[in-house]
Amino acid sequence: MDKKFVVAGLCYAILGMALGIFMAASKDHGHMVTHAHIMLIGFVVSFIYGLCHKLWLNNTTSKLATAQFFIHQIGAIGIVIGLFLLYGRHIAEETIDPVLALSSITVFTGMVLMMVLFIKSMRH
Ligand code: HEM
Repeated sequence: MDKKFVVAGLCYAILGMALGIFMAASKDHGHMVTHAHIMLIGFVVSFIYGLCHKLWLNNTTSKLATAQFFIHQIGAIGIVIGLFLLYGRHIAEETIDPVLALSSITVFTGMVLMMVLFIKSMRH
């Protein structure tokens, strides 16, 4: 589980840095919010989840751990696509708002499930 999270995180880092370089080169910082969320929810949070698995959760591939991985990734992808469309002015805010709301709750659920994984691991 740790390597899956790290690989996913590094993919977001490459994507987010490419967008950061594009913003800097074009002198158009319109995608700052998209870039910041790719880097923080995509890269930093995925990487930290990978470290949690490596350091404390014994790298379990339980059903809950697998579900938590996909829940975080699906939520993060939803936020990235939603923010890209919104800040690139490709879509109306009221159209993309439900996607962003649902994706935010999905990422939040992933964080709650990481807490559950920790509590479970402390019981054994
Ligand atoms: C290739 C590397 C990177 C480049 C070229 C880059 C570029 C940029 C640019 C041009 C901005 C907009 C600044 C502004 O308009 O005020 C920005 C903002 C931001 N970047 Fe990056 N960035 C890079 C790496 C990172 C990394 C590694 C992180 C975090 C893990 C990060 C997090 C952020 C955040 C949170 C903001 C928003 C800052 C604010 O609200 O003022 N960036 N970046």
